[in-house]
Amino acid sequence: MTLPDLDRVDSAALAQAFPPDFLWGVATSAAQIEGAGAVDGKGPSIWDQFCRQPGRINDGSNIDVACDHYHRYREDVSLMKGLGLDCYRFSFAWPRVQPLGQGAWNEAGFGFYDRLIDELLQAGLQPHATLYHWDLPQALDEGLGGWLSRDVVARFADYGAEIARRFGDRLASIATHNEPWCTATLGYETAQFAPGHRSRAESLQVSHHLMLSHGDAIQAMRAETKTPLGIVLNHTPAFPATPTEAARRAARIDDGLNVRWYMDPIFRGAYPQDAIDHVGADAPKIEAGDLARIRQPLDFLGINFYTRTLFAADGTTVKGPGKRGFTDMGWEIVPEVFSAHLVRLAREYNPPPMFITENGMANADRVVDGRVPDHARISYLSAHLRALATALQMGVDVRGYFYWSLLDNFEWNSGYDKRFGLIHVDYETLARLPKDSARWYRDFIDLHRARR
Ligand code: NOJ
Repeated sequence: MTLPDLDRVDSAALAQAFPPDFLWGVATSAAQIEGAGAVDGKGPSIWDQFCRQPGRINDGSNIDVACDHYHRYREDVSLMKGLGLDCYRFSFAWPRVQPLGQGAWNEAGFGFYDRLIDELLQAGLQPHATLYHWDLPQALDEGLGGWLSRDVVARFADYGAEIARRFGDRLASIATHNEPWCTATLGYETAQFAPGHRSRAESLQVSHHLMLSHGDAIQAMRAETKTPLGIVLNHTPAFPATPTEAARRAARIDDGLNVRWYMDPIFRGAYPQDAIDHVGADAPKIEAGDLARIRQPLDFLGINFYTRTLFAADGTTVKGPGKRGFTDMGWEIVPEVFSAHLVRLAREYNPPPMFITENGMANADRVVDGRVPDHARISYLSAHLRALATALQMGVDVRGYFYWSLLDNFEWNSGYDKRFGLIHVDYETLARLPKDSARWYRDFIDLHRARR
């Protein structure tokens, strides 16, 4: 397929390319911004615990305070209002509302989300929630073995039902999981994320329990609310670095374990056979009826897109040419892959309406004379919006876009060193400072709004 030159469109024309009701937002997650790690009865999560293990987090930091959003949410909502956003994607911290992951609920924890949601609604911002953005209650890891245990599936469905019961009528959408590939692979296979295990068999078993918990939570929430329900998947499309059969095969295997491993059970009712064959004895144990439980009708699909992966003939990943450069994470900037991937998803899966639930870049931002001139982020953002407009023009049904992230925050094992925010955070004072990209996004949203 041929895609138009991404640099040849101006902002006003670009804004025109989005339908009038297209939604603009930003995204965050609880563990990365809230802080208040042990405040008002919150239980520890596996990330509180992971940060305490020497060597796990690159800069040796933890999430006890993070951006202190727990105490500064009013200021953060007012900053979002100032950007003219339509919506905000955040996650509930499971151990804040149910400290042990089962049994007693923590009313003080629910109180925080109650206040946050009210504040958002008063500011005219739609709240879009995620149930699980990686902060499993530590007690479930210690007592049950975390996501390795099938018992956690039922705990998760109960938690989802409780959130839907209490908040469903005020939430614009609820997603079950954020990026289950990361939970399973980075948490249980590569040990980069909590709980830091190193076993492919474990990782695949965990992925199956995540899928099952997704399906069961969807059913449990449907019984409580009419709000749209879905899931958020991270897609890093894989390509061969050279036109050899071996490189092509390596990319196809990665596609099977990253994109299709999650899309297929949800939308087709089966794991991809080539991936199952490839993993052999590491394949997960699947019980009768599991696949039907996973394949629940969804109201939306959230896609997080950042970059692509290139594979060499020996199956290792190689750095791309970086025609448009690399982010501070070292991720190649490839907006044209974004359009093409969305078109592929629409063609191959006929999914429900999609949202871009994350897209953004880490940049080595500095405050210069009271401003943050993050022009690289403006060009990343505008190039990806152009790519998204191209996908829409090609008939892909995407209803909204959430930039990752509102604020600089805790970038997991990278700590606070990688800055993804539209708003700069000074970690000494916790002062917030909108970057130049925040102004660009606000002006772009204004241009789009002018056509509503
Ligand atoms: C994916 C995750 O959902 C989010 O938590 C993370 O910070 C961003 N991508 C950037 O890596």
